[in-house]
Amino acid sequence: MWRIRIAALLGLVTLALAVALPSQAPFKSNNSLPAHSLREIDSWALNPTGDAAVIRVKTSEKGQSKHELHLLAINAQFTVPSVLYGSAADQSVYTFLNDQTFLTISPANDGQWELFVQDLNYTTLPPAYPPSASPCDSIGKIASSSKITQAVYAAQADILALHTEFKEVILVKLVGGKDEWMVQTQLVPRPYSHPEVEDLTTNGTHLLDSTVSIWEGGSSSSIILLNLQDVSLPQHIVAQASDVILSAPAFEGNHDIAWLSQKKSENRKLWVFNNEAKWEVALNFDRSPEKIIFSKDGKAIYLLTPHSHEQSLYHLWTPSFNDVTSIKPVRIPSNGTIHSAIHVGITPLDHAHLIGVKSDTLKNEGTELWVISHSPHEDPTYNYENIRLTYFTG
Ligand SMILES: *[C@@H]1O[C@H](CO)[C@@H](O)[C@H](O)[C@H]1NC(C)=O
Ligand SMILES: *[C@@H]1O[C@H](CO)[C@@H](O)[C@H](O)[C@H]1NC(C)=O
Ligand SMILES: *[C@@H]1O[C@H](CO)[C@@H](O)[C@H](O)[C@H]1NC(C)=O
Ligand SMILES: *[C@@H]1O[C@H](CO)[C@@H](O)[C@H](O)[C@H]1NC(C)=O
Repeated sequence: MWRIRIAALLGLVTLALAVALPSQAPFKSNNSLPAHSLREIDSWALNPTGDAAVIRVKTSEKGQSKHELHLLAINAQFTVPSVLYGSAADQSVYTFLNDQTFLTISPANDGQWELFVQDLNYTTLPPAYPPSASPCDSIGKIASSSKITQAVYAAQADILALHTEFKEVILVKLVGGKDEWMVQTQLVPRPYSHPEVEDLTTNGTHLLDSTVSIWEGGSSSSIILLNLQDVSLPQHIVAQASDVILSAPAFEGNHDIAWLSQKKSENRKLWVFNNEAKWEVALNFDRSPEKIIFSKDGKAIYLLTPHSHEQSLYHLWTPSFNDVTSIKPVRIPSNGTIHSAIHVGITPLDHAHLIGVKSDTLKNEGTELWVISHSPHEDPTYNYENIRLTYFTG
């Protein structure tokens, strides 16, 4: 089943090029704001396989805004009709628990947040029916006095890590799976001193974050690894004094960890830790990346990097410890600004696919979901494709 899905999702890009892509119909909206109002994706979550997403769209008009949730099944070469699920709360946060189950975390009253699961019924195989979602099933409440801004789910550990507006992390143990999910315990506050967590990610068993600790007269920046089996023992991978900011922690599939390090106003540098040694990757690059994205197989690194009013992905092969030659990251062509991207796999014909949110003001396109695809072993100037998945703007 999984193999069929991957094949269906990735498709054969050459084929997609030969047979013109079926274009997705404009997405429906059911709110009362006028049709010309600005519509944009303001929150989204992708399932682990990368073939289904939930997308929240914000419609704004004269200071008013409304939010709606859409369900999307993703196949880069075959369009599956999208579905407007219904109105959504503007503060809700979404993540997938597995390919067919997504979680919504919504504010309830008295500093409580309520967690809901829904099953997504979708297919990406033609002829595909439009996806649908089961009704919201409440699995419990948690306490958080500050707004929850991000949720990441560590599937093997069954732990949900919630990032708040005040830069705390709340860990929530879930139980169940299959049909019956439940909130078991809430671990709060996080069991080590009180740093401000800037960014967090998980590989299923561990949590990795970048934090800043501020005290009278100084501050420090760290990359911290937390084994979710034993949250009492955070491991400081690296800690730096105040003039260096560490950011953008990322996991390579199995063992490597990467982050960015910025000294004063210099460009950010790429660092890798392979469980034994950590080193700065020698790059021939005069730009300052914002984010690191590993390919699913860990063989490639993408640096999401601003350049001349846009933001693009730059590709390099994951270096090994002994590499001393400096690497020149290669820009993957795209128009506009890529805001976020997730690597979802490589086709049998060696095309890498990333799915992410991109906007292009020159074309009047707001934030939309795209597949950004390229052939990593060839010059990307001639071997790339951008496939648009949503149509709310432009
Ligand atoms: C659209 O709005 C109508 C009228 O308010 C409502 O009956 C219907 O359920 C809505 N559909 C969705 C998908 O929200
Ligand atoms: C999923 O939706 C399709 C199309 O509406 C329907 O035929 C199928 O029975 C549904 N599957 C489940 C498990 O609900
Ligand atoms: C997650 O990363 C940690 C640290 O590198 C590693 O020990 C662990 O095996 C990884 N887990 C998975 C599921 O790959
Ligand atoms: C960027 O836009 C130009 C002009 O519309 C178009 O020809 C080109 O194919 C686009 N590039 C990508 C990567 O989409």
